[in-house]
Amino acid sequence: MDAIIKPAVKRIGVLTSGGDAPGMNAAIRAVVRAAEHWGISCVGIRRGWNGLINGDVTQLESKSVSGIINRGGTMLYTARSDEFMTLEGQKKAAQTCKFLGIQGVVAIGGDGTFRGCLDLSKQGVSVVGIPASIDNDIACSRYSIGFDTACNTAVEAIDKLRDTMQSHERCSVVEVMGRHAGHIAAYVGLAVGATAVLVPEHEVDYDRDVIEVIRGSRLAGRTHFIIVVAEGVNSAQNVADIIAKETGLDPRVTVLGHVQRGGSPTSRDRTAASMMGYLAVKALAEGRTNRVVCEQEGGYMDIDMVEGLSMKKSLNNVTYSAIQAFTGA
Ligand code: F6P
Repeated sequence: MDAIIKPAVKRIGVLTSGGDAPGMNAAIRAVVRAAEHWGISCVGIRRGWNGLINGDVTQLESKSVSGIINRGGTMLYTARSDEFMTLEGQKKAAQTCKFLGIQGVVAIGGDGTFRGCLDLSKQGVSVVGIPASIDNDIACSRYSIGFDTACNTAVEAIDKLRDTMQSHERCSVVEVMGRHAGHIAAYVGLAVGATAVLVPEHEVDYDRDVIEVIRGSRLAGRTHFIIVVAEGVNSAQNVADIIAKETGLDPRVTVLGHVQRGGSPTSRDRTAASMMGYLAVKALAEGRTNRVVCEQEGGYMDIDMVEGLSMKKSLNNVTYSAIQAFTGA
């Protein structure tokens, strides 16, 4: 069923770029193993686009990716490259591809990584992107690699916080990642039964969305409160200061930070990464370029990268309504 008699590419490269996400290693492994399956040589490009500019590469074989499916981070390292933003940098990267015979590149990262892919494709290299970001903010895919692990890490931490908040009858303000997107805050808030959840997609009225919610919760008999705030809304410290001023409570602040970006990927992330890695190589082997592998209603598929970058994604309305129904509870 997946027979490809004569792959359109003989050698491909794989890189990770932008912020790392648990499951990136599983995606690299899938790319390498799928390439080997179709008789395509695979080169690992270290440190994102910088590696392509500088020829920082290594041949990858099946055994090079043994024992990494369960590891967080990325064995290829990751970076944000200023040089690759320039035409000169893009030409240097394309020159490395030409020299090494790399006909296609699989780039694992977010929207910025995909824009880099399009720049490289203008220099004649085939490209396919794989969405990876703990923020789950890549519009063309319902799911991006790393989100589930990040949410589970945050849930585990907040469950622990709840034990001590409950014992001391305190208020806890927890800041989770998400500069522009509230998916982590929303899912985590729902999963821990937070008193209130603040996301960047909805303007916050502190009196209505935090203070009154805490008051309502107290009147319903609760004596500890968990407020989850996405970093893009406000700092946890500022939110705690507002609560202290308006209620007289003495909230404790926790900033989860980069701990959310690490850890062994969950089965959700490992399977998404494995499927996306497989399909990315399949697209290149079948001669497609400028594609993004994504998860849509019908399952995993590859779509046009320009179209993918033009899509918009917001917080699911039903999810947000459910959060509002439960807050204070
Ligand atoms: O990967 C996405 C993200 O985790 C955001 O939620 C966060 O704001 C940002 O990356 C931080 O990235 P860095 O510290 O690597 O610049």
